[in-house]
Amino acid sequence: ATITYIHSDDRIQEIEVADGTSVMRAALEHGVDGIVGECGGQAMCATCHVYVDEAASLPEISDDEDEMLDCTACERTSASRLGCQLRAGLHFSNIAVRVPERQV
Ligand code: FES
Repeated sequence: ATITYIHSDDRIQEIEVADGTSVMRAALEHGVDGIVGECGGQAMCATCHVYVDEAASLPEISDDEDEMLDCTACERTSASRLGCQLRAGLHFSNIAVRVPERQV
């Protein structure tokens, strides 16, 4: 699967990932800046906030995710998701996410 990270300064980083890898984990493992993942993927910190413009095939936002998305550093929009809740293979095969300007 491929994850494309689009930064707020228009830089683009494209990463190949194994199935099961989350958008948050892949960023940390490959040195993609702008995603923090403070809680380690528990949907408890909101520092893995990303914007997904084409969310058609993604799973519904869970109650936990919904609550955390109210705590993002950058504005929540209808495209907002937690990167730790989106996993390659399970939820997408290729995905493009926009990385917010800041996470804290
Ligand atoms: Fe903490 Fe996603 S890593 S909410």
